[in-house]
Amino acid sequence: MNQAVILAGGQGKRMKAPIPKPMFKVLGEPMLEWVLKACENADLSRICVVTGYEAKQIEDYLGDRCRTALQAERLGTGHAVQQTIPFLQEDTDGSTLVLCGDAPFIDSETIADSLVRHEQEGNAVTVITANVEHPFGYGRILRTDSGIAGIVEEKDATDAQRQITEINSGCYWFRTADLLTLLSKLTCENAQHEYYLTDTIAIALHEGLRAGAYCSHNPDVVLGANDRKGLLTLNTAARNAVLQQHMANGVGFTCTDGIIIERSVQIGAGTEILPNTILRGNTVIGENCVIGPNCVIEDTIIGNNVTLNTVQAYQSEIDGNVKIGPFVHIRPNSHICSGAQIGDFVEIKNTTVGEHTAIAHLAYLGDSDIGKHVNIGCGCVTVNFDGIKKSRCVIGDHAFVGCNTNLIAPIALGHHAYTAAGTTVTTDIPDYALAIDRGVLHVKEGYTLKKFANRSKKETNENE
Ligand code: UD1
Ligand code: CA
Repeated sequence: MNQAVILAGGQGKRMKAPIPKPMFKVLGEPMLEWVLKACENADLSRICVVTGYEAKQIEDYLGDRCRTALQAERLGTGHAVQQTIPFLQEDTDGSTLVLCGDAPFIDSETIADSLVRHEQEGNAVTVITANVEHPFGYGRILRTDSGIAGIVEEKDATDAQRQITEINSGCYWFRTADLLTLLSKLTCENAQHEYYLTDTIAIALHEGLRAGAYCSHNPDVVLGANDRKGLLTLNTAARNAVLQQHMANGVGFTCTDGIIIERSVQIGAGTEILPNTILRGNTVIGENCVIGPNCVIEDTIIGNNVTLNTVQAYQSEIDGNVKIGPFVHIRPNSHICSGAQIGDFVEIKNTTVGEHTAIAHLAYLGDSDIGKHVNIGCGCVTVNFDGIKKSRCVIGDHAFVGCNTNLIAPIALGHHAYTAAGTTVTTDIPDYALAIDRGVLHVKEGYTLKKFANRSKKETNENE
């Protein structure tokens, strides 16, 4: 079957961080993830990733998603592929796609189209190329009248060869059986004393095998990052591409400043995204919403006609016609049901807020099940943690929780129950009841008159 080898052993010294280069993120996903997804979208499920520098980080990230092969010393791209020989030998029937883990924009269409060409031409190797304005640093494609003749690296190229603008993307299709032969013939006689995978082209031709080049119409397939500046360029390109796609789908942006939307996010038509809004992970937003300014939304499902202003929401669900903000934190595992309204300085955690419930300001609601048409007054707190364990509060439909109520969990407040302002509730309250916890209010008449009279007497004495 067809399979893929992804080279991810390199360090990326200029990033100045102990992270393998393919693990640096573009739009929230490691570059390696982009390459893996492109393979998976092209129906390549048998994948081996070559690790090297800080290999454990990549192994931990991948888990059992695919195989890995460790390249203990970095002796070049050819040497990296040599580490996968046991993997290649397991299935020599089809072709193997070799890709670079630090060039995230390879796409499944290029992979599929180049495979068609590779098979049609009966090539031992087909290199994916692109024509770029600035070929500096890339391997240049050498062509003759009959086709590709080889690849020469920047450091080994003559001045004339450096003028060539068709470059090696670093992705290739190899007939697997031929790849095994070609790998056995690599040497390191070049400027960098490395085993260049690129030498397989000239070796194939020398051996009488066919080699071809597939020039991608998407020049971004070659883009990689060698430093932080390059990474920013990739992020900017990816970010703009995502924004364009949402605009084509009918999502509105008046100004895109500070808006970062990861690839996985879905947004319905008619929704407006306002500045400084970051949408991450598996977030799905319905139609005709206004999201922003200043929102961070992660893995959250949002219905239609929702307004979020300066809200952070994580791993939660917000149904349609909900209005939240400003300055609200929705922590994981919360469900805000339709028609609910949440105002400023409210924190919600692991809590269901029922339909048409209002939490207007300054409240903490954690580990709670709040019914519908409930009113939560200003300053209410669910006291869900006793220092050892967390417990839940249940608040019935149409309950009215007065300002500054403390609900000491576990506790259940019946439906249509009231709590008076300032009450600390320590037992369950039946339906329709009022819980009122008031000490005797002492009123000391003339207290301050006396206090200030005493003070001015004392001051007169001191000044004498
Ligand atoms: C390589 C190609 C060049 C091409 C460019 C495209 C060679 C000799 N040159 O150059 O023609 O234009 O990619 O980006 O192949 N890696 C390892 N182990 C190693 C060396 C590299 O795993 O020993 C991995 C790196 O992590 C990276 C990929 O292979 O993902 C490419 O390596 P890199 O050093 O960036 O190759 P380039 O010099 O850019
Ligand atoms: Ca590179």
